[in-house]
Amino acid sequence: MTDSPSSTFPAQALYVHIPFCSSKCFYCDFNSYVSSEGVRIAYVESLKQELAMVHDEYFGVSARPELQSIFFGGGTPTLLSISEFDHIAKQIHALFDVNGDTEWTVEANPGSADREKLSALHAVGVNRISFGAQTFNETLLQVIGRLHDASDVENSVRYALQTGFKRINIDLMLGLPDQTIEDVKESVARALQTGISHVSAYGLKVEENTPFYKWQQEGLLHLPHENVEVEMYEFVRTYLNERGFAQYEISNFSLPGEEARHNLNYWDNFPYLAVGAGAHGYMGGVRYENERSLAKYHERVALGTRPVAQAHVVSANEAMEDTMMLGLRLKSGVSKRHFARLHGREVDEVFGILIEQLQQRRLIEVDDESIWIPSQYVEVANEIFARFVGYL
Ligand SMILES: C[S@@+](CC[C@H](N)C(=O)[O-])C[C@H]1O[C@@H](n2cnc3c(N)ncnc32)[C@H](O)[C@@H]1O
Ligand code: SF4
Repeated sequence: MTDSPSSTFPAQALYVHIPFCSSKCFYCDFNSYVSSEGVRIAYVESLKQELAMVHDEYFGVSARPELQSIFFGGGTPTLLSISEFDHIAKQIHALFDVNGDTEWTVEANPGSADREKLSALHAVGVNRISFGAQTFNETLLQVIGRLHDASDVENSVRYALQTGFKRINIDLMLGLPDQTIEDVKESVARALQTGISHVSAYGLKVEENTPFYKWQQEGLLHLPHENVEVEMYEFVRTYLNERGFAQYEISNFSLPGEEARHNLNYWDNFPYLAVGAGAHGYMGGVRYENERSLAKYHERVALGTRPVAQAHVVSANEAMEDTMMLGLRLKSGVSKRHFARLHGREVDEVFGILIEQLQQRRLIEVDDESIWIPSQYVEVANEIFARFVGYL
């Protein structure tokens, strides 16, 4: 049996989850809590211990492996105080080789990152900031439970640029309650005016255990019609493409060379380390999920054990299906050489019949080097991925 990719390639990406928010947005089910300073300080201590545990387990106590990317996601990582952030950063620097080539992204909520904090992040090696703007429409921002207004987004990006950050992303959301095409046009235009180099545009997903879900059940959530959401997405794609922001993944657009390396690592189905409550990692051929609750997370770490709640050994077949599903998200698609390098088998030998069927229906395109979804079918990409799941 061929090993799954994460058992034969070293991890070069690290995800750190910071599960704190000032308040919960009405659509969001990411693992985050509204917590006090004491809770944050305790969390930083556990995180440092967990970082040492994963480092020692996968690389050995004395190794100092190089990281190509680090991603602090949340929650709201910028809710950490400067000294809390410094403690975590020092531990990462002690355990790993973080150098000028390492992409280090921190997610930030507009309004939660002042000049002093942004300078402190820059000083420890952070070189990319991702701001969750969602929309620039003031009414909509309130409807979805955001604490900031549109001018906070503009000011935050300005501070980040003045601090020296050259790589800045803005997240936008499409298909929000009563959102119109005009709202989307204004939001994307104002986002670009700030001088960013990357945009992520996500269609709203109504997640269970959120106020939006409850309101939808009660018939109180007025979402735009499906066709309108498609029109919004098409508008964003065209608008950004015309302004030099190439679409490189279903939801992601960037100026040349500004693609998020950390996320490319996921879509290439390479392994990655992940630490923090509720974090998901992929190491040594195993996908794992940490304890979501802070109490359980601390309890496990205090006992000197990894806080893993669930682990799944990925079979060689499953890993090949994952490589197709993830890689087809990319505009460039799945490289045949990359597939062979990861799995030790040719993609045509493994998925030849399915690829031919999809190709006949023009749902995918194939040449000597790659397999990709043509841009007119990106909206039905999920149905195309689904064909690869459980195929082997
Ligand atoms: C994990 S959040 C963290 C970012 C940061 N806390 C913020 O909100 O500004 C990352 C992004 O996921 C997107 N997101 C969160 N929940 C979503 C949902 N239910 N549907 C679509 N996008 C969502 C938002 O665009 C958000 O900025
Ligand atoms: S969207 Fe961001 S700020 Fe809002 S609850 Fe989720 S993680 Fe927190």
